[in-house]
Amino acid sequence: MLVAVAGLAAGCGRDGAPDVANGKRLFTGEGKCGSCHILARAGTGGKIGPNLDQAFLASRLDGLGEQTVQDIVQGQIENVRRGSLMPEDLVVGEDARDVAAYVARAAGRPGEDPGGTVPGNPLAEPGQEGKRIFNAAGCASCHALSDAGTSAAVGPSLDDVARGSGGGLPPRDWLRQSIVDPNAILAGGYPRDLMPDDYGRRLNPRQVEALVDYLTRVGNR
Ligand code: HEC
Ligand code: HEC
Repeated sequence: MLVAVAGLAAGCGRDGAPDVANGKRLFTGEGKCGSCHILARAGTGGKIGPNLDQAFLASRLDGLGEQTVQDIVQGQIENVRRGSLMPEDLVVGEDARDVAAYVARAAGRPGEDPGGTVPGNPLAEPGQEGKRIFNAAGCASCHALSDAGTSAAVGPSLDDVARGSGGGLPPRDWLRQSIVDPNAILAGGYPRDLMPDDYGRRLNPRQVEALVDYLTRVGNR
């Protein structure tokens, strides 16, 4: 037990979970991470370093847990490559842990982030590929779906989406198109370009099919 935890000892000064609200404050602070990194949920647009949503979306979808991402980010903060533009030890100790935990919670999950963050870790449930992707890819931050436990209202509720159709397409084809080419047929009353139109590139075909399977199964109320 002690050995397993030793690797994270740097963050053990304070009991309990990291303070992601503190992490967000530090991430977005003047001259801090957000001035060099894009992170959609933090609303930062820095272009000097890599886009952190892109950097971690793929690994997240491959099933990498939040703790692993947190460790990677903390490692980057503490061991910056010599000659990098990224300053070393910009935040230290518990602050570094909090920032890393915040990035791990937010990266690759577009949507609003009004100071809070998505509760729990949707990636922890095994054997639920479509649901996992639904949460990890940020769908849950815009769409209500009872099975996924979300009630977001940026886009239409997907609770009865399996009954939907459009363009004379068979239901599954319409659903797939709604995900990879959302502007092709707009849901009534919603503007174009609100739903990201790059899921066809950010998700591989297997992941898109898992989403179609999942929504066909649970979007039937
Ligand atoms: C002055 C600009 C700058 C600031 C400030 C900055 N970074 Fe970076 N960051 C970079 C650059 C440039 C890289 C590219 C890697 C390298 O140079 O070794 C990077 C790389 C990273 C990576 C690795 C991404 C990948 O694709 O592997 C992470 C994670 C990261 N930074 C997180 C942070 C966090 C968290 C903070 C705040 C504590 C921060 N950065 C502050 C410029 C910055
Ligand atoms: C930034 C918010 C946002 C995100 C993220 C988002 N959507 Fe959407 N989505 C919308 C909006 C707004 C619409 C309505 C406009 C349209 O049809 O493109 C929509 C429409 C849809 C529709 C068609 C619903 C209908 O009744 O016509 C489906 C299906 C859908 N989204 C699935 C997804 C899936 C799956 C994901 C994740 C891979 C996702 N969306 C991510 C905002 C979002």
